[in-house]
Amino acid sequence: MTSQTITAAASGTWKLGDMEINRIGFGAMRLTQTGEALTAGATPRDRGQAVSVLRRAVELGVNHIDTAAFYFSPLRSANELINRALAPYPDDLVIATKVGPGRDPSGEWLPHATPERLRGQVEENLRQLGRDHLDVVNLRIVGTGSIAERFGALAELRDAGLIRHLGISNVTPGHLAEAQSIAPVACVQNMYGIGVRPDQDEFVRACGEQGIAFVPFYAIAGAGRTAGTTGADDEEVLAVARAHGMSAAQVRLAWTLHRGPHVLAIPGTGDPDHLAANVAAGALRLSEDDLALLDSLHRRPR
Ligand SMILES: NC(=O)c1ccc[n+]([C@@H]2O[C@H](COP(=O)([O-])OP(=O)(O)OC[C@H]3O[C@@H](n4cnc5c(N)ncnc54)[C@H](OP(=O)(O)O)[C@@H]3O)[C@@H](O)[C@H]2O)c1
Repeated sequence: MTSQTITAAASGTWKLGDMEINRIGFGAMRLTQTGEALTAGATPRDRGQAVSVLRRAVELGVNHIDTAAFYFSPLRSANELINRALAPYPDDLVIATKVGPGRDPSGEWLPHATPERLRGQVEENLRQLGRDHLDVVNLRIVGTGSIAERFGALAELRDAGLIRHLGISNVTPGHLAEAQSIAPVACVQNMYGIGVRPDQDEFVRACGEQGIAFVPFYAIAGAGRTAGTTGADDEEVLAVARAHGMSAAQVRLAWTLHRGPHVLAIPGTGDPDHLAANVAAGALRLSEDDLALLDSLHRRPR
């Protein structure tokens, strides 16, 4: 099978709340611009290319898309591109969004939402996506303070039927425990990958033990964060990639999927070839030797 014919089903499935999804999904943050994401003066990506990448993702079996209302460039909004490309939405498509952060219309960051303002952010996502409920809403936070009031506000919106499942993002195990005392948590979305936050290994395992999905972001971009990949990669990753005839990005994605059946991938790209490669990474089975080499890189002090 070529990378053009491998579908997201090759990565296996996970039940996110009551919704079964393929473990290889798609992150929408890169769709709205070329170059660095989340900057006020970003260069808008070609609309047709963004729409065709989304449609191709679904054709390739992707049924988990991560987005946010604050993913936009001067002329493109990720939610509106998803709506344009995919509505009426397939029944099995799970769209996960994030609330908490916000940007003003010119793209400058606003203070994080208070509990009272979260409803407006949820409604903004509903409006842009053209839905009457959101499948998954992650509360995305900064810092170590309590999330009880904000998560409680989202739990009320869940009870009101606006949200089906709740998640939390950029959080600690303490935040997870706090959230779980308020309402069920379907997923944790944190930064994680080879050599990226190895201190989270135990948290990743703990989520799996509790049946909670762990959804890493920047699994490919790593330290490049919003700027994306740098092009250079570590020798260990390149060696494993060569041995399998795959790319470094594919090895990085496959490694995250090998951390446990509850780990889901949401690679972001606006490039159709990268999309197909990322979906194909779900079929890559790493050997014990591959994993030992990559794990040693992961744990190496930086
Ligand atoms: N919760 C949070 O706080 C948070 C924060 C950041 C992101 N996210 C979510 O996580 C998703 C993933 O993060 P991300 O999109 O920044 O990072 P990523 O998937 O780790 O990496 C994206 C970068 O890698 C490149 N890339 C993707 N596939 C590739 C391939 N097969 N070969 C070579 N290069 C490849 C992309 O460039 P090309 O466009 O050229 O392919 C881009 O530079 C986002 O889209 C977003 O939905 C969540």
